[in-house]
Amino acid sequence: MFFNGLRAYHTDHIVEVNMKKTATKLTKEELELQRSFSDKIKEIYKNKKNGTAKAFVDTYGCQQNFADSEMIKGMLIDMGFELTDDENQADIAVFNTCAIREHAEMRVLGNVGKLKQRKKSGDDLVIVVCGCMAQQEQMKDKILKSYPYVDILFGTYALYTFPELFYEYLTEKKRAFDISGDETGRIFEGIHLERDRSIKANLPIMYGCNNFCTYCIVPYVRGRERSRDKEDIIRDFKDILKAGYKEITLLGQNVNSYGSDRGYETDFADLLDELASIEGDYIIRFMTSHPKDATEKLFKVMAKHDTIAKQLHLPFQSGSDRILESMNRGYTKEKYLGLIDMARKYMPDISFSSDVIVGFPGEVYEDFEKTLEIVKTVKYDQLFTFIYSRRPGTKAALMEDVITAEEKQKMFDELLKVQQDIGLERNTAEIGKTFKTLVDGESFDENFPLSTHIEGGRLVKAKGDKSLIGKFARVKVTKASPHALFGEIVE
Ligand code: 5AD
Ligand code: SF4
Repeated sequence: MFFNGLRAYHTDHIVEVNMKKTATKLTKEELELQRSFSDKIKEIYKNKKNGTAKAFVDTYGCQQNFADSEMIKGMLIDMGFELTDDENQADIAVFNTCAIREHAEMRVLGNVGKLKQRKKSGDDLVIVVCGCMAQQEQMKDKILKSYPYVDILFGTYALYTFPELFYEYLTEKKRAFDISGDETGRIFEGIHLERDRSIKANLPIMYGCNNFCTYCIVPYVRGRERSRDKEDIIRDFKDILKAGYKEITLLGQNVNSYGSDRGYETDFADLLDELASIEGDYIIRFMTSHPKDATEKLFKVMAKHDTIAKQLHLPFQSGSDRILESMNRGYTKEKYLGLIDMARKYMPDISFSSDVIVGFPGEVYEDFEKTLEIVKTVKYDQLFTFIYSRRPGTKAALMEDVITAEEKQKMFDELLKVQQDIGLERNTAEIGKTFKTLVDGESFDENFPLSTHIEGGRLVKAKGDKSLIGKFARVKVTKASPHALFGEIVE
């Protein structure tokens, strides 16, 4: 294993974490070199396509991946491409992939396969696979061997070298594959971003993860935690506001450990406090918070500012202490519920969401019952539920199951049913109440044409005028379903 240096915090798990090297930002020279490749590609496509070259970018997985795709899109625009949603019109198709569950990987490979025919019939199409799935050695080998129509592949570390790899492919006429880079990683500053949306923006504050939850591939494919400079984050934040965005989501695999790689000279609560003090009409969200690192100081800062949504995505994964231990999560059910209580003390109306895994190796129904207890106690606004997926290379991949896939599925269905009932109960309780909401688009429901999200994060489809899109308004809830609220704009 390539890690050396400090040991991860859990003594049972012999995972070595390299904390010796500090991640560095991309240098001016590195950025200029890549821009020079973009210019050359632009020239090549100008000759080939006369200014009509089109790029299709397909993104899988988490918000961080979507944020990475905004960099890929920025680079493609610098190369002279126009973005398209139609892969059949594209001259280059980029698949930015996720490795978190096997299902996500199968889906990508299926969609990449759909373009094979176009290549076979002689279309001048370039196919690129990048991101977390591509970063894995065994996946690179599989694609090299079994997917000969994939022209370019790069992992998360080499993302900023996309123009160079593309140029190499175009000029040397051979496949360009690069999953190099070490787990210390780099901090990507200075790359041109093309944001996907108006109104809502993502703002990564850190990259990577040091936690090595035993089921999770992320630390292996995204490397060690590295925090962006506070000054860079504040500058981006102000730029986003200046561009008219109303909601900013701060991103990190575990935002609560922001600054840990810099001796916490600024911790996450300090950063949030500083950002939320910036003048303007906006709301801040953030994800993800690891329960082992969530602090009272954070809750105090959240309570202090109207500009911070009273919403917390706090994944608990399992309610069983035995399973939590085996997952290397670093907290118990009691400690987790204590955190929920503490957050509610400061913010009585706070909304919670969470991630849960069902069927982790060794889990039996008695463990699962404890998961249900947490779900019923906390009453989440939103629950992201997953059946455990074995990830080669992780510690849990070597652990044995004691129940069958059918038993896992039955537990999973039971969890969905419990959450569905809670969703309906919580949503029904809101009928008649009025909330501040951000009108963020159209809902495509003809009776409730506006899509709006209230502070806690729940969707309220609303009657109202489309001129309100992009503005904060007040919405009165008139109807509820398990997954959505319905209402009308009242001011
Ligand atoms: N199997 C199932 N779910 C997983 N997650 C992470 N790794 C796995 C896995 N191997 C879930 C966790 C995490 C969310 C982003 O994905 O719940 O919080
Ligand atoms: Fe994966 Fe755990 Fe890191 Fe989240 S905190 S990315 S679940 S290792």
